[in-house]
Amino acid sequence: MVELRIGIITCSDTRTEKSDTAGRTLRGLIEERGWSVVAYALVADVVEQIAEAMVIQADEASADIIFTCGGTGLGPRDVTPEATMLVATRMAPGIAEHIRAESMRITGHAMLSRGIAAMYGRTLVINLPGSEKAARESFGFVVDQLAHAVLMMTGGGHGSAHE
Ligand code: MTE
Repeated sequence: MVELRIGIITCSDTRTEKSDTAGRTLRGLIEERGWSVVAYALVADVVEQIAEAMVIQADEASADIIFTCGGTGLGPRDVTPEATMLVATRMAPGIAEHIRAESMRITGHAMLSRGIAAMYGRTLVINLPGSEKAARESFGFVVDQLAHAVLMMTGGGHGSAHE
């Protein structure tokens, strides 16, 4: 089993660690899989602060994957995709495409999420919407591909000695 190192960044002007039920839910879902939550941050909806948290979790905590939670909508303070683009070295559009497509089966509001997925070096950043329900559902749509994604980012994957 690949042991994934995962970071969580909740992006919100109003949440506290106590009220961050979406972040807690994600942690539970990750740990249920036997993976480690190596970093958690709760940051305001400010591009630079979110981007800095991503860099810290990738460079210092060596996160393979970072899930952001919230700030993907159309509101004036929703800037998580912009922070992700700021650090992105390569895009991974299929992940967000799939999350939105599957989420549209549940609610039409899903089209209002601007979430993206991108690599920062060897770390994959995936934007999830911010409600506990939306975060749980969206995580569920990608969870089965995470181990393979990390294997490929670290130079393994198809045709390598790792398989
Ligand atoms: N995706 C899923 N799977 N389930 C949901 O309930 N809610 C939507 C959408 N994506 C939702 C969802 C709503 S109501 C909004 S406004 C957008 O995500 C953006 O959410 P965010 O601003 O909290 O990131």
